[in-house]
Amino acid sequence: MGGSEFTLGQSASVNCYRRGMAPEGFSRAIFPGGRWLVCRPKDYDVRYVINPWMNTSVVPERELAASQWGNLHHHLIRLGAWLEYVEHADGQPDMVFTANAGLVRGKDVVLARFRHRERQGEERHFRAWFEANGFTVREVTRGSFEGEGDALFSGSRLFCGYGFRSDAAAHEEVAALLGVSELVAVELKDPRFYHLDTCFCPLNDSLALVYPGAFSQQGLDLLGRSIELIRVPERDALHFVCNAVVLGRNVVLPAGCPDTYGMLQMRGFSPFPVALSEFIKAGGAAKCLSLKLEQEAR
Ligand code: ARG
Repeated sequence: MGGSEFTLGQSASVNCYRRGMAPEGFSRAIFPGGRWLVCRPKDYDVRYVINPWMNTSVVPERELAASQWGNLHHHLIRLGAWLEYVEHADGQPDMVFTANAGLVRGKDVVLARFRHRERQGEERHFRAWFEANGFTVREVTRGSFEGEGDALFSGSRLFCGYGFRSDAAAHEEVAALLGVSELVAVELKDPRFYHLDTCFCPLNDSLALVYPGAFSQQGLDLLGRSIELIRVPERDALHFVCNAVVLGRNVVLPAGCPDTYGMLQMRGFSPFPVALSEFIKAGGAAKCLSLKLEQEAR
């Protein structure tokens, strides 16, 4: 993929190029894959260690990372996504993981408040982007909150994971700020699955992928009472299979997880595997690289 700032949106009869920054141009009829924020890797790297996947002596290969990101980008557009772009700030190597920028509902966004100093410098860049694009920026005051990494909507219900990066008190604030009536909050137990989006993925209003080993029995029971669960094997979970971007019935997710692809197909979903090895070196994959910008408003 070249360095084009234009996105290509396709539907059966329409081929249109639009600049990324034109939110009023988004239409679900033309872009059934929804509206997402991404960040083209410019200064992506592993320069510090804030999760068990990161190792400063096993750094991502820059060219391979750029081509893997380009391929993910291509899949999202091909499946009908409208993409918007935030510029990658120098000195913030994890900024490509836009899922952590905040949590959007309607025109409101609750901005991230990162746990680790290493990522706190991203906050002002994400804030500037949201403000420039017509969002009302809201903030938590009680503890840290890492955006969609730890908070995922399934219809009007909000699933949250706390313990490693986000605090339970902050999730309560998020729910109040966004007018969420049903909050399902569970504790994360395995440091390898430190964000909710590494081990849980709502596929629609009633079904979700889950890696059971990331939760306590009590947490898993709570999830199971709230939504039907497709349990993925540890082998696939370790390939970040739950870190999937859901665009209607199409699911873009990491390569190397045939068991989970089969389970998805049995439930009527089409898996689109993409190789993301260079991002897994930082502890992230497909979902971490995208933030949903269109969420059912209040
Ligand atoms: N290196 C990043 C961190 O540790 C990876 C973030 C992954 N993002 C996510 N939504 N799970 O913060």
